[in-house]
Amino acid sequence: MKIGILGAGRVGGTLANALAAKGHDITVGHRDPQAARAKWQGAAVRHASLVDAAASTNLVINALPGDTALVSVTALAASLAGKTLLDVSNATTRLPNGLPGGLLYPGDSVAERLQAALSETRVVKALNTMIFSVMVAPRSVATPPQAFLSGNDEAAKAQVQALLLDLDWSAEWIIDLGGIETARATEALILMVPHLIKAKGFKPFALTAAY
Ligand SMILES: NC(=O)c1ccc[n+]([C@@H]2O[C@H](COP(=O)([O-])OP(=O)(O)OC[C@H]3O[C@@H](n4cnc5c(N)ncnc54)[C@H](OP(=O)(O)O)[C@@H]3O)[C@@H](O)[C@H]2O)c1
Repeated sequence: MKIGILGAGRVGGTLANALAAKGHDITVGHRDPQAARAKWQGAAVRHASLVDAAASTNLVINALPGDTALVSVTALAASLAGKTLLDVSNATTRLPNGLPGGLLYPGDSVAERLQAALSETRVVKALNTMIFSVMVAPRSVATPPQAFLSGNDEAAKAQVQALLLDLDWSAEWIIDLGGIETARATEALILMVPHLIKAKGFKPFALTAAY
């Protein structure tokens, strides 16, 4: 699949390398593609502007900071029309140590706001409830993790599910929560992170419901 990844930080870079290794055709979108290309040490991927990464691919992943994602991603509306947007972002305020302190959109979510702003795009929220390394290595944690999907379009959620299977997720670990409004629940889970790190130290995690 031709996949555009907006952002080349921990999440964007990790997803780009893992999805390229699975044979997908990856274009990573940057604010400064030239500088990013010079710095890149990962898999063979294309580097482009944010708008070109969105325009030249079929499925786009938002791995940009959540606090500015609404502005950055809605600026790409024309290029995202007719496509699936997998939104991995979390929009939070920050504690002095940089960890999430509070929700930027309480009673709402960045995914719902993106969907409202991008009426021609099918937004799917997923993978925002785990540290980046687990997104592409779900078997690296001792307890089977879960990936929660939120979105209004069944076909778009099926596309994201197929990507997760490519990344070694088991089908039974993927839980479709329903419409995009369910993203406000998974986005809120991120407030657990600083407390988990304090309690258990900094190690790979995925927030998971036990049954
Ligand atoms: N880290 C995790 O484990 C994790 C887990 C779940 C969800 N998330 C969410 O995933 C998203 C990405 O997280 P991350 O940890 O990968 O962040 P990161 O390492 O800080 O990377 C952010 C990327 O976005 C770019 N960027 C920053 N500000 C931008 C702007 N205003 N416009 C366009 N591009 C901009 C940066 O590019 P430059 O090089 O140009 O600055 C960088 O490539 C966030 O929303 C985060 O909440 C993260």
